Amino acid sequence: MSKIGWLGALPDLDRDSIVPLYRQIYEALRESILAGTLPESTRLPPERTLAGHLDVNRSTVVHAYRELVADGLIEQKVGSGSRVVPQLRPGQPERSASVPWWVTLPPWRVGEFPTILGELAAKQEPGRISFVQGVAPDQPSPLGELAKSFSRVASDPRFILSYGDSEGYEPLRNAISQRMALRGARTQPKDVIVLTGSTQGIMVVAQSLAEPGDEIIVETPSYPGALQIFQICGLRAIPVPVDEDGMRVDHVEAILRTRRPRFIYTMPSLHNPTNVTMNADRRERLVTLARRAGIPIIEDDPYGELSQGGHPPLVGLAPDSVVYLSTFSKTIAPSLRVGWLAAPRTILERLLLRKQALDMATSLYVQAAISDYLETGYDAHVAQLRVELRLRREMADAAIAEHWPSTMRTSKAGGGFYLWVTTPREIRARPLLDQSERLGASFLFGEPFFASSGGDHNFRLALTPVTREQIPEGIRRIGKAIASIRQ
Ligand SMILES: Cc1ncc(COP(=O)(O)O)c(C=O)c1O
Repeated sequence: MSKIGWLGALPDLDRDSIVPLYRQIYEALRESILAGTLPESTRLPPERTLAGHLDVNRSTVVHAYRELVADGLIEQKVGSGSRVVPQLRPGQPERSASVPWWVTLPPWRVGEFPTILGELAAKQEPGRISFVQGVAPDQPSPLGELAKSFSRVASDPRFILSYGDSEGYEPLRNAISQRMALRGARTQPKDVIVLTGSTQGIMVVAQSLAEPGDEIIVETPSYPGALQIFQICGLRAIPVPVDEDGMRVDHVEAILRTRRPRFIYTMPSLHNPTNVTMNADRRERLVTLARRAGIPIIEDDPYGELSQGGHPPLVGLAPDSVVYLSTFSKTIAPSLRVGWLAAPRTILERLLLRKQALDMATSLYVQAAISDYLETGYDAHVAQLRVELRLRREMADAAIAEHWPSTMRTSKAGGGFYLWVTTPREIRARPLLDQSERLGASFLFGEPFFASSGGDHNFRLALTPVTREQIPEGIRRIGKAIASIRQ
């Protein structure tokens, strides 16, 4: 094997990336082996040589090679180093009993962030105040009234234990459509499909309205769950910044002058993670631009109902150009797994068949209970939740003013679950997270919110998964971590 071969297979390491260096090396070599650019029997350079070449520790290369061995892609023998295993054919790994089947799988498009997100979300250590998960607060609790709704609908067991229609429980679709009309978005119940969480809707849209390789426009920062789905679907995100008035629509306009993305994904009301709400002027301009370019907007609106006053959803301005998504995860609870979409009738069938292929139908039992709850406890609960969110934000602002230096900037927009922070140049979010965790507080660092690069000087605090009393204490602990890093 000439040196040029393995040199060509080496990645341009991104040292600022959250993806560990060993993983970047492993993935580049894996791809080259599977594509045949590093053919069978190729001898890989000794670990020390490669480490020197890439300017990384030898242990980083050892780790990358170990993963390749575990995949069955290379073998290592004392004295003769590391070689690409002979069974593979260039471009098309042979599928036979001698090649482990997982080696021949198509490339995995998930990226690194989701695993990290999962780990962070799961990491609940005793004594640690975790501002990580975007779940509604314990108080006010919907549970008392909701339990009554579940019990009432159980009086018709044969019905509620059946599959139900894929488009959703009719009374629930009626109620959703009426509630959307109250918020200024007139849609017919026929245009509503109930979803098993709005995450399902993002997947349905990504698979139904675009093909792998297509470009789409996303905000930056954006919701990591959506970015993950777009990545899995092979869509290429063109990022557009968000400022205090929402998505920079002037950037969208500039992009549309030369490119034709498949859709624009936006969270115009109480955007995750910044909490920002798009102003009225930008809303008008965005739908006009989308109409003119013949591109749909995917409006993801899980938090809109929590805003005080607020704007009507984009779908109210342009029902033919918008696929609207929302959920009861934030106003009631994510464990219910019930969301919905509203879309132009012309594409409804396309979306419905996808949803049907994914899970047939959303739990009828839960839909019926929510439908009952919407007529009983829901409005009072949401009103209390709005008050609670405002109070929590006021507590957080007061604690930040007391415990953090003024160089830490926070997005002024309130009303939702989150507080988005920009750190000064000398403080990067991940070392700050490490230090904060040692002092008993955690948050979500910024990178997963960015489709390409960015976020190392940002983090998100969810003010909802903690108790009220924990807000000032958690912010104080993060303040101590900031002080210790600045010393
Ligand atoms: C913007 C956005 N969209 C979708 C979701 C997922 O909602 P669901 O629980 O309905 O799948 C979330 C949850 O955090 C979100 O913030």
